[in-house]
Amino acid sequence: MRDATPEQNQTVYLKDYTPVPVTVSHVALSFRLDPQATRVSARLTCKRKGSGDMVLDGEMLKLLSIAIDGVPLAADRYSRTDTTLTLYDAPDSFVLETEVEIAPEDNKALSGLYMSKGMYCTQCEAEGFRRITYMLDRPDVMATYDVEIGGDLPVRLSNGNETGPGTWHDPWPKPTYLFALVAGDLLATSDRFTTSEGRDVTLNVWVRPGDEGLTAFAMDSLKRSMTWDEEVYGRPYDLSVFNIVAVDDFNMGAMENKGLNIFNSKYVLASPATATDADFANIESIVAHEYFHNWTGNRITCRDWFQLCLKEGLTVFRDQQFSQDERGFATQRIGDVLNLRARQFREDAGPLAHPVRPESFVEINNFYTATIYEKGAELIGMLRTLVGPKGYDAGCALYFERHDGDAATIEDWLACFETATGRDLSQFKLWYAQAGTPRVQVSETFKDGIYRIDLKQIVPDTPGQTDKCPMHIPLAFGLLSQDGTETQATQVHELTTETGSMTFEMSAKPVLSILRGFSAPVILEFEQTESDRLTLLAHDSDPFNRWEAGRVLAKDRLMRAVTKDAGFDDAWLNAVAALATDELADPAFRALALALPSEDDLAQSLYGAGVVPDPDRIYAVRRAAQLAIAARLRDALPGLRDAMATPGNYDPKAEDAGKRALAGRLLGLQTMLDGGVAARTAYDAADNMTDRMAAFANLLEAGDTTVAKQFENDWQHDRLVMDKWFMAQVAHAAPRDAVTLADTLTRHPDFDASNPNRFRSLMAGLTAGNPAGFHNPDGSGYKFLADWLLYLDKSNPQTTARMSTAFDGWKRYDADRQDLMRAQLQRISGTEGLSRDLSEMVTRMLK
Ligand code: ARG
Ligand code: ZN
Repeated sequence: MRDATPEQNQTVYLKDYTPVPVTVSHVALSFRLDPQATRVSARLTCKRKGSGDMVLDGEMLKLLSIAIDGVPLAADRYSRTDTTLTLYDAPDSFVLETEVEIAPEDNKALSGLYMSKGMYCTQCEAEGFRRITYMLDRPDVMATYDVEIGGDLPVRLSNGNETGPGTWHDPWPKPTYLFALVAGDLLATSDRFTTSEGRDVTLNVWVRPGDEGLTAFAMDSLKRSMTWDEEVYGRPYDLSVFNIVAVDDFNMGAMENKGLNIFNSKYVLASPATATDADFANIESIVAHEYFHNWTGNRITCRDWFQLCLKEGLTVFRDQQFSQDERGFATQRIGDVLNLRARQFREDAGPLAHPVRPESFVEINNFYTATIYEKGAELIGMLRTLVGPKGYDAGCALYFERHDGDAATIEDWLACFETATGRDLSQFKLWYAQAGTPRVQVSETFKDGIYRIDLKQIVPDTPGQTDKCPMHIPLAFGLLSQDGTETQATQVHELTTETGSMTFEMSAKPVLSILRGFSAPVILEFEQTESDRLTLLAHDSDPFNRWEAGRVLAKDRLMRAVTKDAGFDDAWLNAVAALATDELADPAFRALALALPSEDDLAQSLYGAGVVPDPDRIYAVRRAAQLAIAARLRDALPGLRDAMATPGNYDPKAEDAGKRALAGRLLGLQTMLDGGVAARTAYDAADNMTDRMAAFANLLEAGDTTVAKQFENDWQHDRLVMDKWFMAQVAHAAPRDAVTLADTLTRHPDFDASNPNRFRSLMAGLTAGNPAGFHNPDGSGYKFLADWLLYLDKSNPQTTARMSTAFDGWKRYDADRQDLMRAQLQRISGTEGLSRDLSEMVTRMLK
């Protein structure tokens, strides 16, 4: 065997894409499972497509044998590195046979084949398959699979249809990242579904014994998703079985492996006693997301990992549409925009900003980001706005017809819409290439019966990108008269140049409602008058903009309170109180309208306005605003809360969830006034986890010293509930106590850093849940996080790299805090033996 040196931390470029010279059309795998010595035999049916050596991927594999067409391979016909196996002079068509040995029990990175609580499971996206056997581990190589899982474990699952005990055939060609295997002692909840084509499908949700009572909602969500995708996108399911498996140790949310979706158990298991309304909503949308991938991701996959948004942006858009249909448009859209701004706008404004289709990466796992997922989904939404619902349906239909079975690109996707609608999307395509959140400045004048709107777009510089071109921005807008009547229904203005304008002949100045439905992922800069904003808050027919008007008013107040020590005026407090008590408005909407901008949102906005954010001051100002609102509503609060009661059996549906959300907000206000009296009553009376968590959080905020122990005694048997316990305590600690408490909790017997859910609960409880605590001026929060990142990086680089993004806002802060954060980033980057994942992240953040 010849020798070669592996290349570490190499940058991969989109422009370097080249097809493989030899491809694989069929994969036959045979597993003999063993925690320390699993044997994997692979037979790859290979065919030459061009000239050159065949370079297979493989990592941490012990090669036991290798043969071509049944003949053991001579040592000079191949070579190996730590990450590759190269075949020289491969014939035009042949079968490659290898046998390797791996140790799933030692695999703590949770990528490839690993073990979780005694069960075997896999995670192959993006590049985990190479840790199972030698193969062309890239998405443009699509093969059919036959899998045989030996041994006597009671349940042995893989992709496709079961052909015998532990043997599976997947007739749909797929890339390696969609391969999956699960084996262990599992129980199924089963159901059936008949597709629009008349196919009879068995549905199973597999869990470990003891969890079988927690699967009903996931199963129900699956059936509703299957129906929805048939009705809305015309996409039926294509195998005779669909399996979902819940796994406790999982780096991400879930994975769309063909016919065998594997889920973080957090997004499957639910009962009213243990899961909150937010958990139920997450389960519904993630079950839908993974199911929808069967067409957008699996039947049509990505040519290379730069095209990740092709499947993720589109599938997120589809799951958002589904949730809008299931739970109501306005609340879903507002929630999605809140999430986009909190995660994606933050990413876009910092050192980790990257285009929706990146041009290079070191570690692809670092690009499963809010930009690729959530901004990627916004791009689909804008496309739909530009071509209209009919054009969108026609473009999608053409995409499914033209590219079924392909590994496609963004160009392929856009070409379908150009063909189907005749629109030129070349400028629109810049959204995929130019990073950063565009700012749109709006100004208005009214003179001599002419109302004029002036628009200007600014696309900011981001790492590696300056002097950008104007984007194609769809601005949905409408006009109201001063008394709140809509005088012009929603229209779309397409801003395609740096500046633009619109004029209207009118007898009086109207009230402008612009960026309706958040029609583009931009930051609006519009000094609209206070009275216009109040008119929109009271009357806008667009529910998103109605909410947004209240948001802008609140943010204005909070920013002025931070920078100018301004108090909270009656006009605003009365408007907030009016909304809170408006019995005609939907409770879910009122709950959203009562929520103040988060501490991080304010930090981001202050920084954007050229003010250095002070986390302690932001924390104090938010509390002061809550107290002012609470005081204004003092007499109404008990009655308002009573009106939100949801008697009878808990129902996770949106209507009751909205009432509980509003009740929780109101309890927060009441706690500001009574120091936790009402929260204690609510805690003791709670008969579901939503109400219990709201009361728990408020008791913690009020400084209650007994409830944490009480909660622990009641729930220590339930790992998913205990994740909430770890997170809530840190998130709701007084800022100066947060780091010490987090540190103490890492010594709790139930803290286990190797479980990603537990690790994230505690760390994010601090970094995201308690910004003033994380940014403790003594730097202890930064050191605490860095210590744990360095510790976990040795075993689980993916989860570590993801958590390291807590540092991505470091340049916003004062010089002392910047120095402290930079020092921790430098300490990490100077550490020997860092993973490729974490090393890329800290390098980008330090640049
Ligand atoms: N495709 C999965 C989903 O969005 C996510 C898998 C991400 N895995 C990873 N190692 N980055 O549904
Ligand atoms: Zn996805």
